[in-house]
Order: sequence, then C-alpha cells, then structure tokens
Amino acid sequence: MEPIDLLCGNEEKDSEMLRFLYSSALRKMNTRISILEQEFITIHHYDPIEHVTSRLKTKESIRRKLLRDKHETDHVSMLRYLNDIAGLRIVCSFNSDIYKIADMISAQDDIKVLIIKNYIASPKSNGYKSYHMIVTIPVFMADGSVDVKVEIQIRTIAMDFWASLEHKIYYKFEGDAPEYIKDELAECAKMINALDDRMLALNEAVQSIEVKKNDDKA
Ligand code: GTP
Ligand code: MG
Repeated sequence: MEPIDLLCGNEEKDSEMLRFLYSSALRKMNTRISILEQEFITIHHYDPIEHVTSRLKTKESIRRKLLRDKHETDHVSMLRYLNDIAGLRIVCSFNSDIYKIADMISAQDDIKVLIIKNYIASPKSNGYKSYHMIVTIPVFMADGSVDVKVEIQIRTIAMDFWASLEHKIYYKFEGDAPEYIKDELAECAKMINALDDRMLALNEAVQSIEVKKNDDKA
C-alpha cells in the first residue's frame, strides 16, 4: 500500500494517521541504522557513525514548503511533492564512511532507494557537501504494509559543521547574504574539504601501521 491509500478524507483523522505513519517510519529507520552500526562494529572493530539525528517536519514547515513550491497544501499534495517529512541525518568521521553507510542502507532488501543526490561528488555552488538519499521503508500495519518515504542525509562532522553555519546565515539574511560573507563561507568550505582529506589520509596511515604491527606479530 501507499500512504495515500490510508486517507479517509477527514482532515483531522488523516493528519493524525500520517503523523503516526511517518514517525513509525523514522523509528524503524533509526533502529535499522543502529543495528547496521552494531554489526559493522562487531565485524570491523570501529564505528563509522559519529551520531544520528532525526526529525519529523512540522505542519507549519510542510505548509511553507508546499507554498514555496506553488503547490496545494492538502494531504494528497504533501504526499506527492514532499520527500523529507521524515528526515534522518547520519554524521560520520571520514569521507570514506559515507559510502559504506549508503551501501549498507541500499543493500537492505525492503528499503527502496528512489533518489540519490551526491553533493559530495558534485558540491553545490555555495560549497555545500552531503550525500542525500530518498528511500522508502515499509511500515507494517494491521491491513498490510505501507511504503513510507524517508530522507537520509549522510555527511562528515566537518561538512555538518559548515552546513549548520551556512543554514543559520541563509536564514538570517533570507538567502541574500552580503558578498563578503558568501566568499568567507566558500573559503571555509575549501578549508573543510582540505581538513576532511587530511584527516582521512592520517587515519589511513595510522591503520596501515596497525596492520603492519599485526603482520609483524604473525
Ligand atoms: P529542498 O526543497 O530545500 O528540501 O531541496 P530539494 O528538495 O531540492 O532537495 P536537496 O536534496 O537539494 O536538499 C534537501 C535538504 O538538504 C534541504 O532541505 C537541506 O536540509 C539540505 N540542504 C540542501 N542544500 C543545502 C545548502 O546549500 N545548505 C544547507 N545548509 N543545507 C542544504
Ligand atoms: Mg528539507
């Protein structure tokens, strides 16, 4: 089933049903990621995930986004046009972890990947980097299962740091920040890229020494 099949036409009941559906999808996805993380630690003896945050989009924010994109603000329109009502952000230490996590999620039998936006391979013009996936996860109800969309953003700590400052600046200036601030942000994005690359190289160097030590022992 699709979420739209659960609508009955009563505004209040539908609203309650959809919030329940999306919050269930978010809980399932959080649990799934936590199990994948634990399995990864068991096998590889390190944790690729620093932390995970998740949120349900508020009614007000749903309305604002639909109006921004010149859509109707009813439930059918919301289901059709919004992919990020349930959103999850996975923050990891290294660039290389991002693809490991994305692969683990994609490999889950019941999770369908609908859209991938790889802003790491192709950063946005402002310097924004992050790996975005829109997926569906089934929520099992009494009358059958419903595939619910979830937006997953995967990024490093450094990218997350940059994105949260950029977000604040964007809102403060309503998208029209002074040129020198935009330039400074672009400069910071470069520094953060360089930092991510150096930290990854450093980590790989440390790991290769550990491997060598183990080889020596053997
Ligand atoms: P939205 O309609 O804004 O959600 O964008 P979209 O539907 O085209 O999808 P996209 O994958 O580009 O962006 C999804 C989400 O990623 C946004 O809602 C933000 O949370 C985040 N994001 C995208 N671009 C930027 C950016 O330039 N800066 C920051 N801070 N976050 C961004
Ligand atoms: Mg969004």
